[in-house]
Amino acid sequence: NIQELKDKFGRIHNYLRISLIEKCNLRCSYCMPAEGIPLSPKAHLMSADEVLEFARIFVGLGVNKIRLTGGEPLLRKDIGVILDGLSKMPVDLSITTNGLLIDRHVDNFQKLGIKKINFSLDTLKEERFQELTRRTGFQKTLDNFELLHDNGFDLKINAVLIKGINDDELIDFVEMTKDYQVSVRFIEFMPFDGNQWDRSKMVSEKEVLSQLGSYFGAEKISALPNEDNFTARKFKISGYQGDFGIISSVTNPFCGTCNRIRLTANGRIKNCLFSNQETDLLAAMRAGEDVETLILESILNKKAVRAGMDSMEKISDPTLHSDNRSMIAIGG
Ligand code: GTP
Ligand code: 5AD
Ligand code: SF4
Repeated sequence: NIQELKDKFGRIHNYLRISLIEKCNLRCSYCMPAEGIPLSPKAHLMSADEVLEFARIFVGLGVNKIRLTGGEPLLRKDIGVILDGLSKMPVDLSITTNGLLIDRHVDNFQKLGIKKINFSLDTLKEERFQELTRRTGFQKTLDNFELLHDNGFDLKINAVLIKGINDDELIDFVEMTKDYQVSVRFIEFMPFDGNQWDRSKMVSEKEVLSQLGSYFGAEKISALPNEDNFTARKFKISGYQGDFGIISSVTNPFCGTCNRIRLTANGRIKNCLFSNQETDLLAAMRAGEDVETLILESILNKKAVRAGMDSMEKISDPTLHSDNRSMIAIGG
C-alpha cells in the first residue's frame, strides 16, 4: 500500500532524477558559465550510501523510474557502488551522460542490465564540438556512441539547438536515424543561471519541423503517438530505423503530464526544473528527521507550470527569478 507522490493537480510523481555530481569533464556554454560554478562543500554532498537510502525512500513513495544525471554522472568515483545498489531496486534505471567515459563502464552496465542511455551530443563536427564544449574529446565521444550502439543499448541523442551554432545540422542528425536505431531529440535551449539565454538564440519546434519538412517532404515525416509523460514529441522518416523528436519546453511545455522530481547532488529536492525553492533533504536525513513528510510537502507545493513562472523571459531575468541553479548543478 504505497503512499503516492500526487500533487494538487493530480500528477503522480514516479520519476526521480538524481544528480550525482556537480562537476563535468566538458564545459558546454548552454549548461554552465566558462568560469565554472561555486561547488558545494564536500561534506554537503550525498555519499553513495545516502544516494541509495534516498532511492529506497522514494521507491517506497511510488517511484519506479530513476535517471542518473550530473554534471557528468560517470565522473563519480563510487559510481559502481551506486549502480550496483540501484540495479537491485524495482526501478527502470537510466543514465544521461556526455559519453566521454562510457568505454570504462560498458561492461558493468551490461552486467547490471542497464540498457537505457541518453547521450548528449550537440554537433557532428569536431571544431564545433570544441567551441560548444570548450574541451576536446569529439572522436572519443563518437567512438563511445558506436560502442553502445554495437552493444545493443537503447540510445537517445540529446542535441540542444542554438541558432547560428548547430541549427544547420538538423538534417545530418536526422540522417543518422536512417541506419541507426536511435532516437535523436532536438532540444529547445532553456534559460538557467549563467547560460546567457535569449529567445533569439533558441531554435523552436516549429522551425525544426519546417526545416525538416522542406528537406524530406512533409509526406515522408509521420508523427508518432506521444508516450506517457513524454518530453519529446516524436516523428519518423518513412523507412528509417530510428526516429527524431523535439523537446519544446520553451514553446510547447509538457508540464500537464509532468511526473518528475529531482534530487540535487547536495541532497535537495527540487519539485520543478525551474524551481528555486528547494528543501534540504540531506540535512534532514542526517538529523534523523522525517524525510517522507518533507518530500510530500515539496510535491504539494509544486506549481502547475514551470514553477509558476509564466514566461522564459521572466525565468531568465535574475531580478524576477533569482537563485535557480546552472544546469550543470540540476542535471536537466
Ligand atoms: P527519458 O527518460 O528518456 O524520457 O529522458 P528525458 O527526456 O526525461 O531526460 P534527459 O535527461 O535525456 O533530458 C532531455 C532534455 O529534456 C533535457 O534538456 C532536459 O533538461 C529536458 N527535461 C528533462 N526533464 C524535464 C522536465 O521535467 N521539464 C522540462 N521542462 N525539461 C525536462
Ligand atoms: N537547455 C536545454 N537543455 C539543456 N541541457 C543542458 N542545458 C540545457 C539548456 N540550457 C540538456 C543537455 C543534457 C540534458 C540533461 O540537458 O543536453 O542532455
Ligand atoms: Fe515538470 Fe517543471 Fe518541467 Fe514543467 S517545467 S515539465 S512542471 S519539471
